[in-house]
Amino acid sequence: MDNTTFNNKPSGYGQSMPSLFDNNASIVEYNSDNYVNSRFLDKKPSKSHIPSSPIKPAISDDKAAKQNKSDLLQKMRNKFESLLRSTGRDGIDEVITYLLSSDFFIAPASTAFHSNYDGGLMWHCLRVYKIACMIREDLLTLDPSLEEYLPEDSIIIVTLLHDICKADIYQKATRYRKNIRNEWETYETYTPDYSDFPFGHGEKSVIRLLRLGLHLTRDEMLAIRWHMSAWDLPFQSAEAKSNINEAKTQCPLLSLLQAADGLSSALLEE
Ligand SMILES: [Fe+2]
Ligand SMILES: [Fe+2]
Repeated sequence: MDNTTFNNKPSGYGQSMPSLFDNNASIVEYNSDNYVNSRFLDKKPSKSHIPSSPIKPAISDDKAAKQNKSDLLQKMRNKFESLLRSTGRDGIDEVITYLLSSDFFIAPASTAFHSNYDGGLMWHCLRVYKIACMIREDLLTLDPSLEEYLPEDSIIIVTLLHDICKADIYQKATRYRKNIRNEWETYETYTPDYSDFPFGHGEKSVIRLLRLGLHLTRDEMLAIRWHMSAWDLPFQSAEAKSNINEAKTQCPLLSLLQAADGLSSALLEE
C-alpha cells in the first residue's frame, strides 16, 4: 500500500462541514432583494480554480475582445450544428431550425449555478459532449462490450440536446443589492419564465424533441428524461424513484450523461 497517499491529506480533510443549523455556523440570510449575506457561504469552496470561459463577457472587454468572443460564439455554433448534422438522424434539420429560431445559442445555462452568461448554455452542452466522449473512450478500453450501448450518435444527441428545455426561458433583468460597503449597487442577472410549455426539465426536453420530429431511441429518451438524477426527483414519489432506478439499470447512456453533466457543471464551469 502506498502510504504517501494517506500521509498527504489536504488540510481540513475529514472535518465535518458546518451545518446551516449549527449554532456556530452562520445562518444564510436573505434580505429583501435576495442578496445572500452569509459567513457560511464565505467559507464555501469557491470555483476560483476554474479558468474563465473564453466567451464570458467581462466589463473590461474592449472592442477587440468583444469581437473575439463573438467570433468564438459563431465557431461554437457551427461546431454544434455540424455535430448534430453528423448524426444523420431523421428530424435533426427541424431541431437545428428550432435552435436557430430560439435563444438557445445565446441563452445562459442557468440563472446562477453555472455558466450564467450569454452563450453559457451552448458552452455547457459542448463541455458535456467533450467530457462524455472522454469518459466513453476510457470505458470502452475497460469493457468493449459497452460500445453497443454508447453509440457515438447517441452521445451527440443526448449531450447537445439534453437541456433544450432551457431555450427561451431566461430573461435578462437588473437587480439591486448591497455590496460589502453596505452600498446599493445594480447587477445584471437572469430570471426564468416557465409560462411557455411548463412541463418540467428532462421530460420537457424529450417532448420538445419528439414534437420537432426528431427520431429518438429508447435509451436516448431515458437518458435525457432522467439526466438530472435526484436533483429533479419528487422524493414523495416512490414511483418516480423506481422509474429512475430502473432507467439507470437498463440504460448505460443515462449514467454517462449524468456523469458528464454533473462533472461539467460542478468542476469545469463557473
Ligand atoms: Fe439539465
Ligand atoms: Fe446540463
